[in-house]
Amino acid sequence: MKINVPDYILSLKPYIPGKPLEELEREYGIKNAVKLASNENPLGPSPKAAEAIRAAIGNLNRYPDSGAYALIQAIAEKFNVEPKTIVLGNGSDDIIALLSTALLKPEAEVILPQPSFLFYEISIRSAGAIPVWVPLKFNSMDLDGMIHNITPNTRLIFLNIPFNPTGAIISKAEFEQFMTAISSEVIVVLDEAYIEFVRDPNCVLSIDYVKSGGNVVGMRTFSKAYGLAGLRIGYGLMAAELSELLNRVRQPFNVNSLAQVAAIAALSDEDFLQKTVNLVHAELDFMYAALRRAGIGYIQTQANFFLINVGPDADEIFNRLLKQGVIVRSMTSYGYPDYIRVNVGLHHENVRFLEALTNVL
Ligand SMILES: Cc1ncc(COP(=O)(O)O)c(C=O)c1O
Repeated sequence: MKINVPDYILSLKPYIPGKPLEELEREYGIKNAVKLASNENPLGPSPKAAEAIRAAIGNLNRYPDSGAYALIQAIAEKFNVEPKTIVLGNGSDDIIALLSTALLKPEAEVILPQPSFLFYEISIRSAGAIPVWVPLKFNSMDLDGMIHNITPNTRLIFLNIPFNPTGAIISKAEFEQFMTAISSEVIVVLDEAYIEFVRDPNCVLSIDYVKSGGNVVGMRTFSKAYGLAGLRIGYGLMAAELSELLNRVRQPFNVNSLAQVAAIAALSDEDFLQKTVNLVHAELDFMYAALRRAGIGYIQTQANFFLINVGPDADEIFNRLLKQGVIVRSMTSYGYPDYIRVNVGLHHENVRFLEALTNVL
């Protein structure tokens, strides 16, 4: 068979997800393995969301509401925006893909930090567009470097706040300054997958820009703070003329009916959200203190994950941790060969991780 494939598809490398727990337990014959690799919520799903799912199961013979009326209303109320500024996705991954499909054509350029969440590159290249990488500066996105890389072909800029993997943010003042250099033809995407965990009150928020109908898109997800990663639901906040374009290329039923009801319930479950955020903050402080005592370096974060310096061979440390039943992420493929990324788990999981880390170091 000879398949005629565009070169830009052949250039794609498949996304490598965090190792599933079951796979590790099977491979190494380990029980009670701990996964701190995919920045998930260790408390499970919001109980209200779980209840809503149970109540909706009887309707699974029906297609979902393609326009997700009730969920869009709930999100619109949360942000006090017009429903037409919201686009729902099968995870925020889907919003990244919709932005690429709707806005990019071959040879268009997209500026993004290096390293970045890996799916940006996959979706950019899938559209035949060109990723333009701008290396980090002091573990943060280099906004000036991005401005210098803008050309007449630039269509999108991906920013991620707080930033995966370093946990850095951009302040309101820095972003304000950055936007003065951006023409209205360039869309700036603020991926806010971890925004609920930010402690710094100066952090920029996309919604302040979306409300004025400009060229800023916000992306949010129910996968992290709301504990619904397995359901796949996220959304974009953007000017109505943009959301209209994304909705043209969206699969009609991209958000399943259980995800819709669960997301509505999760939005109303403020107790669960607060409990999650409190846990993450308390456990981060606990882990920082333990690492300091052990003389192990780390990078402070505004997210629910952070980087730990295990130099010089993070892959090796990653593998040794696996054998101890702890899954983290080696940052070698992100260009940080002496760091692992670990997300905050439950207290006993964090203790187990810290013990395993001191053992393998
Ligand atoms: C920075 C960033 N953006 C987006 C996503 C995608 O999240 P989801 O598709 O689960 O909403 C992730 C997931 O890990 C992420 O780290």
